[in-house]
Amino acid sequence: MITIALAKGRLLQQAIRRLRTAGVTLSKPQNRALVTSDPTNQFQAIFIKDQDVPLYVEYGIADVGICGKDNIWEKGGDVYELLDLGFGTCQMVVAGKQSLPDYQSLPFLKVATKYPNIATDFFNRKGVPVELIKLSGSVELGAVLGLADVIVDIVKTGRTLEENNLHILEKIAPISARLIVNRASFVMKRQVIETLSWRIKNDSGSKS
Ligand code: PRP
Repeated sequence: MITIALAKGRLLQQAIRRLRTAGVTLSKPQNRALVTSDPTNQFQAIFIKDQDVPLYVEYGIADVGICGKDNIWEKGGDVYELLDLGFGTCQMVVAGKQSLPDYQSLPFLKVATKYPNIATDFFNRKGVPVELIKLSGSVELGAVLGLADVIVDIVKTGRTLEENNLHILEKIAPISARLIVNRASFVMKRQVIETLSWRIKNDSGSKS
């Protein structure tokens, strides 16, 4: 059996759809169960928080997982990234008030984010000293209310920034959903995983 870790957030519906097109029928249970199997009992899905998917895959609890590049990058786990699934696209950015175009010249930059590792790497590479403030959500408020000078966060439609009078100050990287694989599973169950990956890649909605 192949265990697939699925992020419970906004990527879930598309992940389930892509798997179904690839011949794997896994539905989110109507009750609060967090594990379900496909009718053939060849695959089971576990439904977990987006940011935990790389961890479950790295530790081999799941053989494969579908989650955003942002969470893979932030976690820095030891997993294979097999496929860019081409959905859930957004941008990792630095954002803040429009009055801050030259934000990197501030003597000491306060950065609020759900992604402390990504933000630290980014500013380290630029040689900009920062104080990181880790938030769990509604990150934009950090910049709006002055908790931080800027935020590092993902932007999809841009509406949250716009409606809070914030602006993209710098783009860090594009983000999308990825298929990741546990290293040992990729050796032990290679044929099934490669077939699954090939089918997902070659279905009609694939980009890579
Ligand atoms: C994400 C992100 C932004 C928002 C961007 O938050 O952290 O806040 O979406 O989307 P937009 O550009 O389409 O407006 P999410 O909705 O995941 O909730 P959170 O703030 O609780 O993390």
